[in-house]
Amino acid sequence: MISQDVQKEFTDKFGYDSTRVFFSPGRINLIGEYTDFNGGHVFPCAISMGIYAAYGKRDDNKVRMYSANVPDQGIVEFSLDDLKYDKAHGWANYPKGMMAQIIDHGHQLDHGFDLAVDGNLPDAAGLSSSAAIELLTAEIVNDVFEFNIDELDLVKYGQLVENNYIGVNSGIMDQFAIGMGKANQAVLLDTNTLKYEYVPVEMGDRVVVIMNTKKHRELQDSKYNERRAQCEEALKRLQVKLPIKTLGDLTETEFDENSYLINDDVLIRRAHHAVFENQRTLKAKDALVNNNLEEFGKLINASHISLHYDFEVTGKELDTLAETAWKQPGVIGARMTGAGFGGCAIAIVDRDQVDAFKENVGKVYEKEIGHPAEFYIAEISDGPKEIK
Ligand code: GLA
Repeated sequence: MISQDVQKEFTDKFGYDSTRVFFSPGRINLIGEYTDFNGGHVFPCAISMGIYAAYGKRDDNKVRMYSANVPDQGIVEFSLDDLKYDKAHGWANYPKGMMAQIIDHGHQLDHGFDLAVDGNLPDAAGLSSSAAIELLTAEIVNDVFEFNIDELDLVKYGQLVENNYIGVNSGIMDQFAIGMGKANQAVLLDTNTLKYEYVPVEMGDRVVVIMNTKKHRELQDSKYNERRAQCEEALKRLQVKLPIKTLGDLTETEFDENSYLINDDVLIRRAHHAVFENQRTLKAKDALVNNNLEEFGKLINASHISLHYDFEVTGKELDTLAETAWKQPGVIGARMTGAGFGGCAIAIVDRDQVDAFKENVGKVYEKEIGHPAEFYIAEISDGPKEIK
């Protein structure tokens, strides 16, 4: 059990026993990709794969952190007086950034601590390991120092860490999905108003299979920020005539009638994705509520195709997984999830067919790409918490 491993790792590294253990989930997004910085809807859920942390109080103002997932980094040590981004601190910049945010919002940390971290959430695989470690830190600090900060504020701080500290201009989806996660529920979030609604994920005999390309990527060096800038430029050109605040304000027809204003092929395709994906997300939520899984599957497939051709964030690995999944018996839909450029895809598969599915897709993937994929069954879980 990872919650026990992490306590042992704590004792090994720091030479005394930890006193508390915390957990934060990762997330998958069912549909609604690249809509969150376009004022659209997203439909993610937290998953049971995640990150555990063992905590021990210190009496000085030092913080030490060790991750069993990044052993080469060793113990990262810093002082509460200096929480500036430091490239050499690697993964620990995420917890550091979150601590800096909490302090910037008027809270005082009057002592340091030691933290050992371990998890089963693959790193940089599109399942939001970064938002998981941010919200894990937020949970620990909020709890230990009894700050009583609202979860929604912690979610917003997480986005600020990404935007201002790490330098990824991401939306709020990942932090929201994790911070507000509930077992067996997906959350439909309107990123424009932050209104949200929980929707039970009841798929009968079907399960959500996560497929990992094992293609590592960092959003800092991906085309993520470029995509956001392209959407913003397209919006600006539409605003010359249309009184809209975001691309999410448009229906499909309104977009089709006005897309000429954008006057650039690439920008039109980027905005087309954002507008149509937002509408697909609303339709997918209705399909799930009405138990129309066939329709849900079609919308998921359409999302992948749009991310491939219009948004161009899939790549050979994700396309191979999704396209191979579509051909398997018992599959109602498959698409990339998260930012793309590698990372993970999801498929909705008949429980009885899962073994054959993994074998068939695994074989094709390895033959085409040259290394094996990995498969996990997603369990939809609660947000960050202390493990008693
Ligand atoms: C990453 C970002 C999110 C969102 C997705 C794409 O996960 O962190 O804010 O933009 O990509 O939907």
